[in-house]
Amino acid sequence: MRLTEKVVLITGAAGGQGRREALLCAEEGAIVIATDVNVQALETLETELRDVSDKDHMTMIHDISKEIDWQRIVTEVKERFGRIDVLINNAGIIGNVESYHHTTIDEFHRVMDTNVWGTYLGMRTVILVMKEQQAGSIINVSSIASMIGLGLSPYGASKGAVRSMTKSAAGDFAKYNVRVNVVLPGFIETNMIKDQLENEQRHDWYVEKTPLKRIGRIDDVAPAVVFLASDESQFMTGAELVVDGGVTAI
Ligand SMILES: NC(=O)c1ccc[n+]([C@@H]2O[C@H](COP(=O)([O-])OP(=O)(O)OC[C@H]3O[C@@H](n4cnc5c(N)ncnc54)[C@H](O)[C@@H]3O)[C@@H](O)[C@H]2O)c1
Repeated sequence: MRLTEKVVLITGAAGGQGRREALLCAEEGAIVIATDVNVQALETLETELRDVSDKDHMTMIHDISKEIDWQRIVTEVKERFGRIDVLINNAGIIGNVESYHHTTIDEFHRVMDTNVWGTYLGMRTVILVMKEQQAGSIINVSSIASMIGLGLSPYGASKGAVRSMTKSAAGDFAKYNVRVNVVLPGFIETNMIKDQLENEQRHDWYVEKTPLKRIGRIDDVAPAVVFLASDESQFMTGAELVVDGGVTAI
């Protein structure tokens, strides 16, 4: 197994991609600490994790935009397991899909607070533990909306910041033997873009834009995250793994 006994902390784990990633990490032998703000979906995930393995998996309520939440989570995980080997900064929101001039300042802040501030706080808090253990892998989740304009105003800007922070953190944390990489999914079938996929015209536009001619699946992204979490990627840091069926290739 590729993540045997690794302690993996994953945010947004009750959502589409996060849930699949949490379960795949457990299948690969990890102890999974799955966090989210969606209490009900976390309860379901807890049962699913226990069905995968009898490890000491945990689910925790956690708003990534709150520093106090990060401190509580990291302290508790450190006390219980003594280490955090992998952080998957997966939680995110898309916000209202409006053009820039129709996006309110409050909405812009809301998206930045979750996607940028949440990712920053995660790295900032967990690095203290990883520095002490002189090892770790952080995986941030950006989007191809950071590479091309998809009409997703604050979202694209927030994911651009996640890409950029990944590069800086990779440089900063290398001296502690901590790697920081970023995954950039394309159009993936989850609740995040459910409304858009239900619109036939938008759905067909997404497929048309994708050279591999289909919408991405949660099973397309999770293996990329597990690869970056595992020692197989031990010489990779600051890298960007695009999982988009070719959207940004042409
Ligand atoms: N679905 C796509 O097409 C797509 C494409 C590129 C990138 N992404 C990114 O992938 C990641 C996972 O998204 P998904 O597609 O699984 O969407 P999703 O909506 O299914 O899951 C997102 C999860 O994040 C949680 N969340 C939201 N705000 C939070 C907060 N403040 N604190 C903690 N948890 C919070 C939600 O409760 C949800 O469970 C996100 O970062 C998203 O931006 C998604």
